[in-house]
Amino acid sequence: MKNEIRIFSPATVANVACGFDVLGFCLDNKGDEMVVRITKEKGIKITHIEGFELPYEAKENVAGVSALAMYEHAKPDGGFEIEIYKHIKPGSGIGSSAASAVGSVFAMNELLGRPYNKTQLTYFAMKGEALASKSEHADNLAPAIFGGFTLVKSTLPLDILQIPTPLDLYATIIHPQIEIKTSEAREILPKKVLLKDAITQWANVGSLVHALHTSDYKLIHRSLQDIIVEPYRKQLIPHFDDVKFAAMEAGALGCAISGSGPSIFTLNKGMEVTKNVKEAIEFIYSKTNIDFEVHNSKINTQGIKIIN
Ligand code: HSE
Repeated sequence: MKNEIRIFSPATVANVACGFDVLGFCLDNKGDEMVVRITKEKGIKITHIEGFELPYEAKENVAGVSALAMYEHAKPDGGFEIEIYKHIKPGSGIGSSAASAVGSVFAMNELLGRPYNKTQLTYFAMKGEALASKSEHADNLAPAIFGGFTLVKSTLPLDILQIPTPLDLYATIIHPQIEIKTSEAREILPKKVLLKDAITQWANVGSLVHALHTSDYKLIHRSLQDIIVEPYRKQLIPHFDDVKFAAMEAGALGCAISGSGPSIFTLNKGMEVTKNVKEAIEFIYSKTNIDFEVHNSKINTQGIKIIN
């Protein structure tokens, strides 16, 4: 059995417009790397962090907390050392904390000979995610672990569904270089919603899931609407309405906040439209004084993986 492993832990888009805390999908070309090795010494140690300043104390680090949750359950003879090469900026809205939380437990599971299934890995990772966002949701964790689109049917007990990815579906992501803390973006949300709004929202979730199963792009377009969360959170994201208008004019199927923001995502049919959407969004932000990054991505149906 190996005693060291290097993994790629992908960025993800949570909520997917209508599915607050339940829907998510996995991105292809953005993610963190981590190296995890078995040690004779017991416990979880974070020995190296690159990219962003994060705590080395395992109990204060998202990857450390999820690793500790698995470690305490597995009770292995030795311990683990973790190196984190962080490429996803914390507070960017594309699952930075989820990538860390998932990375450590996925790698440890491989090194232990895979005693846990993907749902169990998600359970341990939720403990890490809770440190960052003060809430045990799994809508970024599940797509990072399973790949493609996922729906978290329930967190207690944890029940995750994989949803098929239509072949011609691509995403465009704009990341304005400001930070929004998930915990703060959750605090501004109302505790109650109107029944008429809930009806619209759950109709959209149902139809989006059906559209993904049947590769019905027109129905994807009609379903990518968020009338509950977006009206509150878009105020935290400069030029959100302009980006959305430009993306839709350029042919996007839908455009909404990625997770708790500030990133904004679109889903598009085909590479040609995707290039146009990227250009349209870039044009909007290039007129502002806010730094930003825009990238196109396939939907990553594999999820987290081992690399050499
Ligand atoms: N569903 C979560 C939220 C995703 O929107 O708050 C971010 O962690």
